[in-house]
Amino acid sequence: MTELPSVPYHPTPPEKARELLSLAELGEGEVLFDLGCGRGNILIVGAEEFGARCIGIEKEAELVKQAREEVESRGLTSQVEIIHGDIFDPGFWAHRGSKGRTVVRNADVVALYLNFDMHEVLRPMLEKELREGARVASYEFFVRGWRVYKERPMLFVFRKGDSF
Ligand SMILES: C[S@@+](CC[C@H](N)C(=O)[O-])C[C@H]1O[C@@H](n2cnc3c(N)ncnc32)[C@H](O)[C@@H]1O
Repeated sequence: MTELPSVPYHPTPPEKARELLSLAELGEGEVLFDLGCGRGNILIVGAEEFGARCIGIEKEAELVKQAREEVESRGLTSQVEIIHGDIFDPGFWAHRGSKGRTVVRNADVVALYLNFDMHEVLRPMLEKELREGARVASYEFFVRGWRVYKERPMLFVFRKGDSF
């Protein structure tokens, strides 16, 4: 069996998360996903500064615990959900969160801080699931095969309908 690619934890600094989400035009009340959310840095900026409803998925139990503690200490539990799971698990793509409507198909913005190998596996899943107008906002790595919609140094935004 071919092993799926992975990437170790490295947080996005809050100021970069802010710039990335702003470039992706994340709006109040929109749904933000972070695939491989680590301690939840991007989600916390999305919830506190953009008023988004945020869902993260992370495979490392310790990071999930820390992200949930951070979310709770900031009083964001009604706005941010952290799922302990694997982004390559087909079950996740059909996941219905406790607050309803939290399937990837409902995302307005999907944040990624992964790598090219992981993008390669995720790309067809995102192409299939995302709805017209949804944005994929990636830190450091662009997505091969998609046309960049907006960019700044190290920040790449793609939009379904324009980029793929
Ligand atoms: C570079 S870190 C980015 C963390 C966070 N998104 C941020 O920007 O602050 C990538 C994260 O993806 C997680 N990860 C890697 N492979 C994963 C998988 N298959 N499913 C879920 N999480 C994964 C890692 O454990 C790590 O926390």
